[in-house]
Amino acid sequence: MRACAAAGVVVAACVCSVAAVDIPFRRLRTTPARNSRAAAVLDPGDPFAFQNLNNNVYAAEIVVQGVNFTAQLDTGSSDFWVDSSLASNNASFVNATNTGLNAQLCYLDTTCAGGPILVVDVTFGNFTISGQAMIDAVGTNATEGTGISGLIGLGAPASTSSSVIQNQGVDSQLNDSPLMNNLFTTYPDVDNYMTFLLSRAPLHNDTAGGVLTLGELSSDWTEIADTEKLPVLSPNAWATVIDGFVVNGDTVVGTSEVLPDRPPQLLSLLDTGTARALAPAEIVDALYKDLPGAEFDGCCQYTLSCDTLTNISVIVAGNMFPIHPIDAVIVPEAGEEPRADADATLCVSAFSYMAPSYVDVILGDTFHRNAYALFYFGNWTRPDDVAPYVQLLSTTDASAAAAEFGALNDARIAARKASAQQDGPLQQSSARGTSDFSTSVAWLLVPTFIGLVLLVA
Ligand SMILES: *[C@@H]1O[C@H](CO)[C@@H](O)[C@H](O)[C@H]1NC(C)=O
Ligand SMILES: *[C@@H]1O[C@H](CO)[C@@H](O)[C@H](O)[C@H]1NC(C)=O
Ligand SMILES: *[C@@H]1O[C@H](CO)[C@@H](O)[C@H](O)[C@H]1NC(C)=O
Ligand SMILES: *[C@@H]1O[C@H](CO)[C@@H](O)[C@H](O)[C@H]1NC(C)=O
Ligand SMILES: *[C@@H]1O[C@H](CO)[C@@H](O)[C@H](O)[C@H]1NC(C)=O
Ligand SMILES: *[C@@H]1O[C@H](CO)[C@@H](O)[C@H](O)[C@H]1NC(C)=O
Ligand SMILES: *[C@@H]1O[C@H](CO)[C@@H](O)[C@H](O)[C@H]1NC(C)=O
Ligand SMILES: *[C@@H]1O[C@H](CO)[C@@H](O)[C@H](O)[C@H]1NC(C)=O
Repeated sequence: MRACAAAGVVVAACVCSVAAVDIPFRRLRTTPARNSRAAAVLDPGDPFAFQNLNNNVYAAEIVVQGVNFTAQLDTGSSDFWVDSSLASNNASFVNATNTGLNAQLCYLDTTCAGGPILVVDVTFGNFTISGQAMIDAVGTNATEGTGISGLIGLGAPASTSSSVIQNQGVDSQLNDSPLMNNLFTTYPDVDNYMTFLLSRAPLHNDTAGGVLTLGELSSDWTEIADTEKLPVLSPNAWATVIDGFVVNGDTVVGTSEVLPDRPPQLLSLLDTGTARALAPAEIVDALYKDLPGAEFDGCCQYTLSCDTLTNISVIVAGNMFPIHPIDAVIVPEAGEEPRADADATLCVSAFSYMAPSYVDVILGDTFHRNAYALFYFGNWTRPDDVAPYVQLLSTTDASAAAAEFGALNDARIAARKASAQQDGPLQQSSARGTSDFSTSVAWLLVPTFIGLVLLVA
């Protein structure tokens, strides 16, 4: 049992646990710094310049006071920050309004983003918003190794427990609303929803992010309109229930720690800002422990051969959402897993243990590469609207995924070995030791300021 890290004001959480809402994860070492990474090959018609950075961070360009930033898109948090010192021309934001207030978000991995709260003009895709509150987190260590220079929280608004900016009680003359609130207010004719389908990139390659739309559906996945509207069951987060999992034909149903009165369903956060996924221990065990060579790491996850062909689906509203085997078993980050580092053909489970929290499960990018998701803000952004909901459409054909797994896996193992040769042994390339808390959860950035999050009755 490792020591617990008491990070943040409210929540003290252990290495194995996720105590609060999310945010992102990050690979600390395997993604080259922004200056050195090759430009991602983007979809030329995409006004957001949506990008997949090494399958770890999904980001878009956002123009702040005329200066471009690459900001992680995080449905698991609600604040917007950039680090102006990372802009190509060292943005000074001289013409921005400085509120005179400061705010800081700290994450479970002990990184923080803090600085003055400014009010700025931003352009995001085809949308321009004037008077957006933002933290200028100069010198933040929450961007290290990620290729990003900011983060846009796309989560629940209107809650002091989901936004550090709103928690500061910014002068009532100023608008402290999250970006999406201001966007849908500025553009009243744009329907107040966003959709995501995350792309899958070859290891070490940055590429187009997948599907990101605001106020319209992707023409490739319009069937999502006919799927069940899943109620959002937390006032502070994009959380809804799943029915369980299917593993090699066996249904695995969990016991919810947070919804004791419901049928055996699990309250799950839909989080583009978490790279992998977390679930209760008994679920993670059921998904991985019987696979050949699988070994529990004593804390949080399993190591197993990268060749392992998994057959895992998530069940949502009675429908199966197959998880591509290439997403269910993943190459660990350097320094994350000693057993895997010592053997370049060992991988780790994409799902790891989640301690009891305000949600049972976090479905991060592992899930969002396999489902087209619609996030309807409803009365989170327009007071007279219906309550927020989500809709999900499976995009992975399990048979086709199983058939292509061998070739995809060979390619990623080859890339991993080439990268290990270039960088030297994996464990030595890690900036932080393997016993280091921040390395072990580096793929998961969890804001620690959020305390108890109540459920909607
Ligand atoms: C700045 O962002 C816009 C999208 O808002 C994008 O079209 C443009 O290519 C970006 N410029 C740079 C230099 O990245
Ligand atoms: C940006 O400005 C800061 C403060 O003036 C300075 O310390 C830093 O070196 C500048 N960075 C670049 C890349 O010019
Ligand atoms: C700030 O505003 C002034 C007056 O509109 C303008 O001349 C100047 O170029 C602006 N500076 C920046 C960095 O945008
Ligand atoms: C990040 O910076 C904060 C101070 O802003 C510091 O307390 C924390 O230890 C740093 N974390 C890492 C992982 O460097
Ligand atoms: C964004 O604006 C461009 C240029 O006006 C237009 O061609 C494109 O259709 C717009 N995209 C969206 C998603 O509205
Ligand atoms: C990454 O992209 C480059 C250029 O598009 C390509 O040559 C290379 O094979 C890709 N790497 C992998 C691992 O697919
Ligand atoms: C995965 O399991 C399902 C039963 O849930 C089965 O029909 C399917 O053939 C399995 N796929 C593979 C590749 O084993
Ligand atoms: C949104 O609507 C639901 C259902 O009518 C209601 O329970 C909830 O309080 C509303 N939330 C807000 C923020 O208005």
